[in-house]
Amino acid sequence: MSGRLNPDAARLREIVDEICAAMARETERGKVADYIPQLAKVDPGRFALALATAEGEVIAGGDADVRFSIQSISKVFALAVALGRIGDQLWTRVGREPSGDPFNSIVQLEHERGLPRNPFINAGAIAVTDAILSRFEPREALGQILQFVRYIADDDDIAIDPAVAKSETESGWRNAALANFMRDFGTIQRHPEKVIGTYFHHCAIAMTPRQLARAGRFLAFDGKLGPEGPRAIAPRMARQINALMLTCGHYDGSGEFAFRVGLPGKSGVGGGILAVAPGQAAIGCWSPGLNAVGNSHLASIALEMLADRTGWSVF
Ligand code: DON
Repeated sequence: MSGRLNPDAARLREIVDEICAAMARETERGKVADYIPQLAKVDPGRFALALATAEGEVIAGGDADVRFSIQSISKVFALAVALGRIGDQLWTRVGREPSGDPFNSIVQLEHERGLPRNPFINAGAIAVTDAILSRFEPREALGQILQFVRYIADDDDIAIDPAVAKSETESGWRNAALANFMRDFGTIQRHPEKVIGTYFHHCAIAMTPRQLARAGRFLAFDGKLGPEGPRAIAPRMARQINALMLTCGHYDGSGEFAFRVGLPGKSGVGGGILAVAPGQAAIGCWSPGLNAVGNSHLASIALEMLADRTGWSVF
């Protein structure tokens, strides 16, 4: 299908129900991440789709009220906080190009003076976290990120899952390597242990797909929480974050996601994807099983179906 179909709320309800029913029938569900032991415990049978629309409602189906670990999706919120506090100076620490490498890769750092390609690969998000720590102590920095997420979701019932944070602290050797490597180049300035500790904690934010959809509204509506809603960030910043989500939000699967779905999106190894249909809706989709490049298998398929049925592709 092509063109703008402008589905109304009743049609969106049908589309969400159709996608949830199709995903419930899927037997191939991908593989739940197990390199963070706590994440391996999640039921791969889960699926949810939630749309926070321009009309201010949430149209949701499946496990939309079950909390999950947002993991790398928190990199979007950390980036918004860092840009808000530090501004364009942030770009001296991190680039804006797709990496074409897996999310936890170290190879480019050695060739590129320790400067991570973009804020959504692990190295880039660790650099962004260090930049926030230039202004705040770890506890305050996490408080700033949580406060921002609660504000944009308009929901105070969002918190860090301490068991997930602890599990990653005990197993995140690759991230420790990235942080130490960047500390040697001077890309990060604080003690690597402090930086990855803060990073692991924001990755461990838990929220529901419904809350995630609401939290994405600031990207769908030019930095505001709805077409007429209160402002969260400057419009220019919202455009920049969307551009990075489109080009880098799925790591070495970013081209494929743009090709199939055509929306800015950010995935996490907890199986969540936050997608943005500019002017239309923010979308929270979740299914814990991952594909070969570490993005949710069913959420990617569901978003492709959604884009097809709504005509919401940005292209
Ligand atoms: O640093 C990590 O490995 C995790 N805290 C986050 C990685 C992640 O979500 C990659 N996304 N698909």
